[in-house]
Amino acid sequence: MENEITITVIDQSGNTHTLLCPLEMGLTLKDICKAYELPMEAMCGGMAMCATCHCFVLSETTALPEKNDIEEALLSELFTSKTTSRLACQIYLTAQMDGLSVEIAAD
Ligand code: FES
Repeated sequence: MENEITITVIDQSGNTHTLLCPLEMGLTLKDICKAYELPMEAMCGGMAMCATCHCFVLSETTALPEKNDIEEALLSELFTSKTTSRLACQIYLTAQMDGLSVEIAAD
């Protein structure tokens, strides 16, 4: 379907979930993980304040938009942060992200 992408999310227990994501609703990666009831805390509700939506991007082929300053700052405070780290609440799903795969960070 044109208005839908498929992404793969690995949870903290190592289970793989395939998520079908509608694009027309302006959802973030955090929103879709919540919609599928995955174990992502996202405590601040997507305000870029809590970092409990921390994910590692596994697919290098998928182009994601650059981090904004707030995301960059919050990630830099985490011990578990890697170069592949992102905040799921700051990533708005687009058609280019079809096939994206991410892992929810365990912290
Ligand atoms: S949900 Fe809190 S920083 Fe993303």
